Amino acid sequence: MLIARSLPELRAATADLRTGSGRLALVPTMGALHAGHGALVAAALASGAATVASIFVNPLQFSPTEDLARYPRDEAGDLAKLKEWGCRLAWLPDVATMYPADGATVIEPSGPAEGWEGAARPGHFRGVATVVAKLFGQVGAEAAYFGEKDWQQLQVVRRMVTDLHLPVTVVGVETVREADGLALSSRNRYLSAAERARAPALARALRQAAAALAAGAAAAGVLTEARAALSADGFGVEYFALVDGPSLRAIAHTVPGARLVAAARLGPVRLLDNCAIPGRGAG
Ligand code: PAF
Repeated sequence: MLIARSLPELRAATADLRTGSGRLALVPTMGALHAGHGALVAAALASGAATVASIFVNPLQFSPTEDLARYPRDEAGDLAKLKEWGCRLAWLPDVATMYPADGATVIEPSGPAEGWEGAARPGHFRGVATVVAKLFGQVGAEAAYFGEKDWQQLQVVRRMVTDLHLPVTVVGVETVREADGLALSSRNRYLSAAERARAPALARALRQAAAALAAGAAAAGVLTEARAALSADGFGVEYFALVDGPSLRAIAHTVPGARLVAAARLGPVRLLDNCAIPGRGAG
């Protein structure tokens, strides 16, 4: 596996890969890799493209109250995983490359970036959209792979690509879960044993609510009940909502492509998850 740490190294490496394989696929990450990232790499490899993974802990998507310094970092472990998964190139830019001191341009997404994570983490999607646009420009891959676990992020990136006519196909990959249903996340490591045992209740609540909605139950009652059950279980529920999948607008009734999205605190960890409504399409 090639490793690039500067733009000239990246250009040389992507040119090499293009000569050998033709198409490139990008898997953007912030490191602390787990099987969820492995699924993104596997989906990219299955497309037949040479797979490039970026690792960059993006300061612009952390708010001042979030602890950027505490974000888990394990470069050697991450590189070993990428190599084992079949990645052809790891792109490891530094902050000065991504955000030069004279930089004056950011991307300010609205639409699907508003509400939910956008409201809870002001500036977060500005940081995500800006870094993702830079990665797209740097790597020049034909396709990029993102997890459905961060449903809102996936829609923000899709909207940006459409609005800016970026020449990249955005592919969403299904959430990878532990056997008990907990969605994989780099932050799960901060759950205590007792919290870890309670954590799958969020995915369960989403599944049950989705099944009730699919069976025709009224959304208001289903959502209220789910929030109450999670609160009784010790979760600090921030939102548990029914939305139109692509736009993230709250809706009162299920429609094709509707999605349940949720964020809840358990101890020090903010768990995020989401779920399609069975029989209603993926959105
Ligand atoms: O999902 C992530 O890990 C990050 O938000 C991303 C897409 C790599 C941008 O920094």
